[in-house]
Amino acid sequence: MATTLLDTPYFPYFLTEEHISVRNAAREFAQRELLPGVIERDTYEKFPEEQIKKMAELGFMGMMVSPQYDGGGMDTISYVLAMEEISKIDASAAVCMSVNNSLVCWGLEKYGTEEQKQKYLRPLARGEKLGAFCLSEPEAGSDATSQKTTAVDMGDYYLLNGTKNWITNGNSASIYLVMAQTHPELGHKGINCLIVERGMEGFVVGKKEEKMGIRGSDTHSLMFTDVKVPKANRIGEEGFGFKFAMNTLNGGRIGIAAQALGIASGAYELALKYSKERKSFGKPICEHQLIQAKLAQMATKIEAARLLVLHAAKLKDAGQDFIKEAAMAKLFASEVAMWVTTEAVQVHGGYGYVKEFHVERLMRDAKITQIYEGTSEIQQIIIAREILKQL
Ligand code: CAA
Repeated sequence: MATTLLDTPYFPYFLTEEHISVRNAAREFAQRELLPGVIERDTYEKFPEEQIKKMAELGFMGMMVSPQYDGGGMDTISYVLAMEEISKIDASAAVCMSVNNSLVCWGLEKYGTEEQKQKYLRPLARGEKLGAFCLSEPEAGSDATSQKTTAVDMGDYYLLNGTKNWITNGNSASIYLVMAQTHPELGHKGINCLIVERGMEGFVVGKKEEKMGIRGSDTHSLMFTDVKVPKANRIGEEGFGFKFAMNTLNGGRIGIAAQALGIASGAYELALKYSKERKSFGKPICEHQLIQAKLAQMATKIEAARLLVLHAAKLKDAGQDFIKEAAMAKLFASEVAMWVTTEAVQVHGGYGYVKEFHVERLMRDAKITQIYEGTSEIQQIIIAREILKQL
């Protein structure tokens, strides 16, 4: 295991023994339960069902939910430390965990009614049920305000019609938070977030996407045809759906930044180890300066990404504004993940290009971190807006 600043006793100054023990538990779990079979799950696009059940038993699926609703009552720092360790080994299991924790449980606990928390949050926090966050549509990805899915107000229920795309946990979830337009004339202020249950009449899980990376995660389109969703399933006030999605995504982006960090550090650790073992021109390749330059750059970029991720998490835990910092952490960590994994493949040479050595998978997995929960381009828009607000 490579030594990082995180392992030094003086850094980061705000980490507690509890944080370190959560990190160690996640690290141990990932090595023991996720590593065996990760190549097979990636190759055959197998959802890590058994592994997710074990993650749920260990409390990884509802880490930040209060114990009152069967969660772990942990802070965001603990969550990102665990997310990094899980992602180092299996980024597919990590995204399932990330969506459940930060996009579904967090939003339900923060904005849900007591009845919604009792009914939906509890099983989600225990990891008995999985949640999905349904914002993206065939024609509304980055431009999330232009939702075409409609939720027509019918009195005591909404009539939901439309299609959602690229939904993580699309088939494995049973509780879906669906954004839909009720008053198109009001733009984003006409959008509601509705809790849709698997099995509601008119709700069909569509095709599974065959993906470049995170192939163990199940990504589906979802179709809604005249689905009757009770009014009691709306989260927040009428028209709060877009704000709900944005506020939730702010925290989600810290989770994806931690996932990117994990992918990068996993690839770096493999490259470091390999460079000490592999010999060329009569010496281990780590003694060649060009390889040393790569390792030095990798280690530096990873530590910088880690500081941004922990900083954003710390701000969130302190109840301070963290929109800009979350976007910065996601932007930077995902670019680092793409760069580090590509260099890790290069350090491995021909071996890096074959599945057995893991780095090619990490390189494919890295790419999505620059796309989902807001592309790198959207993160830059968010950062620029936040900076300009401060003028
Ligand atoms: N936090 C809180 N509020 C925000 C916000 C943020 N980060 N960004 C925008 N808002 C608010 C604005 O303040 C505004 O509210 P008011 O009208 O009350 O002032 C409202 O939302 C609309 O914002 P804008 O006028 O700025 O809208 P826009 O259309 O110009 O831009 C956007 C909005 C920031 C680009 C937004 O559409 C966006 O974030 N797009 C990316 C969507 C995204 O991240 N999708 C990911 C899909 S989910 C996913 O990937 C999950 C998965 O399965 C892994």
